[in-house]
Amino acid sequence: MVAHVGLISLSVSLLSMPCLPRIGFTKRRPFPMAALSDDPVQEWILTEGKATRITGIRPVGGGCINLANRYDTDAGSFFVKTNRSIGPPMFEAEAIGLDAMYETRTIRVPKPFKVGPLRNGGSYIIMEYIEFGSSRSNQSVLGRKLAEMHKAGKSDKGFGFPVNNTVGSTPQINTWCSDWIQFYGEHRLGYQLKLAQDQYGDSTIYQRGYSFPH
Ligand SMILES: *[C@@H]1O[C@H](CO)[C@@H](O)[C@H](O)[C@H]1NC(C)=O
Ligand SMILES: *[C@@H]1O[C@H](CO)[C@@H](O)[C@H](O)[C@H]1NC(C)=O
Ligand SMILES: *[C@@H]1O[C@H](CO)[C@@H](O)[C@H](O)[C@H]1NC(C)=O
Repeated sequence: MVAHVGLISLSVSLLSMPCLPRIGFTKRRPFPMAALSDDPVQEWILTEGKATRITGIRPVGGGCINLANRYDTDAGSFFVKTNRSIGPPMFEAEAIGLDAMYETRTIRVPKPFKVGPLRNGGSYIIMEYIEFGSSRSNQSVLGRKLAEMHKAGKSDKGFGFPVNNTVGSTPQINTWCSDWIQFYGEHRLGYQLKLAQDQYGDSTIYQRGYSFPH
């Protein structure tokens, strides 16, 4: 039976705000002199991450939910995302998804290293930093690899994923279905329509969505 890694579904999130692309690094900012024990990210990098020195921390643009930074060290670079208001479960699910994608050896994704809580609330994820080359715009190769990834990520449970995750910060339900059309209709489109109905108190969109044959 063909199945897929649910995280990758490129579903349209009706509720998420469009993110304006912010490409590249902004100016290097002063190196924070946080004591080791105050910052679990630095603590991990300087112990299990096997670095003895962090030589720079630079913000990375592109996302709109979390803060993203590149940490340069004498043991290479790390990519770190933090969120001050969402606890570890969001990044834990992201790490499980990244690991699943990584294991397929198809689309190149960063290997997740560590997820944990920040000291004053929120959470972080530390992963491999991938240096982008100049040839990254061939969409046909991307499409092929995406198909290979879904084939390699087969499960006899059908279509879904072992954990629920998020699209942006919106919950994404990955409950297993034996039928991909049912999965997509119910857990992708239908769930978004339900969220829209709950949030805006207007059932018109929901009813229109459900009037499509499914
Ligand atoms: C964390 O997530 C919330 C969504 O709950 C978002 O509004 C907030 O801006 C996020 N980012 C950071 C950097 O804390
Ligand atoms: C993209 O890659 C495919 C497969 O390698 C190749 O046939 C195609 O010419 C490439 N397209 C561009 C725009 O480079
Ligand atoms: C995912 O969310 C759905 C809906 O809330 C729930 O029924 C299901 O048990 C959750 N799955 C997991 C693995 O937590």
